[in-house]
Amino acid sequence: MTKLKTLPAFLVLCALLGAAGLPAADDGDLAVDVARFDADGNLRVPGNLDEWIFIGSSLGMGYSQADFDPDSPGMFQVARMEPEAYAAFKATGRFVDGTMIALHFYGSQNEISINRSGFVMDNLHFAEIHYKDSRRFPDGFNFYNIENDAETAREIPLPNECVDCHKRDGAYDGVFVQFYPDIQRYLPAGVRERLASADESGHR
Ligand code: HEC
Repeated sequence: MTKLKTLPAFLVLCALLGAAGLPAADDGDLAVDVARFDADGNLRVPGNLDEWIFIGSSLGMGYSQADFDPDSPGMFQVARMEPEAYAAFKATGRFVDGTMIALHFYGSQNEISINRSGFVMDNLHFAEIHYKDSRRFPDGFNFYNIENDAETAREIPLPNECVDCHKRDGAYDGVFVQFYPDIQRYLPAGVRERLASADESGHR
C-alpha cells in the first residue's frame, strides 16, 4: 500500500525536476522499485502480470530471413509494461531504472467459433521480461525468461544476443518503441521526430 501512496509524490518530483531542466536522479534508490530477486539473482515472477499495461503487439514477427507464411503466421507477441514504470514513463518520457516490460508469446489459430478469416490468439506459450537497472547491468538492461508456471524468471547470462539486438535496433533506450504506437506520444520530442522521419523514408 505504501507504494501506491508514494507514487504520486514521485511523479510530482519528476515533474518538478523536469521543469527545472534537471535529469531525474538515478543514483539513489531505484526510481521504480517493484522487481524482486531471489538469492541467485533470478527475478521473482510478478504476481500482477495480468494487470500490466498493453503497449503493443505483433504477429509472426521474425528477426531473420524466414518467409512469413500467411497460412501459418506464427505467434502473437504482446508487450505490456509494469504499471508503476508506465506511470513514470508518462511523467518523464524515460524508461527509468526499475522498469519492467513483458513480452508474452501466444499461438495463433483460425476457423474457430465464428472466425472464418484472419487469426485469433491461442494459448500462452512463454514470456520474457526486459528489466532496466543501470547499476546491475553494463548496458543498463537485461532479460529474464518466464517458463511455464515457474515462480522465478531466469536471468539470461550476459553477454547475449538479446541485449545486442535491442541495443542496436530498439529505437529508444533498447526498447522497440518504433513498434509501440500507443506510447510514442510520451517520448521526448527529438525521438518522436526521429521516428516520424524514419517513417517517411520507410526505415526505422
Ligand atoms: C534480432 C533482434 C532481436 C533479438 C535478437 C531479440 N529481440 Fe526482443 N524484440 C525485438 C523486437 C523487434 C521487439 C518488438 C516487439 C515484438 O517482437 O513484437 C522485441 C521486443 C522484446 C520485448 C518487449 C520489450 C522491448 O524491449 O521492446 C522483450 C521483453 C524482448 N524483446 C525480449 C527478448 C529476449 C529475452 C531476447 C533473447 C532471448 C530477445 N528479445 C532477442 C527484437 C529482438
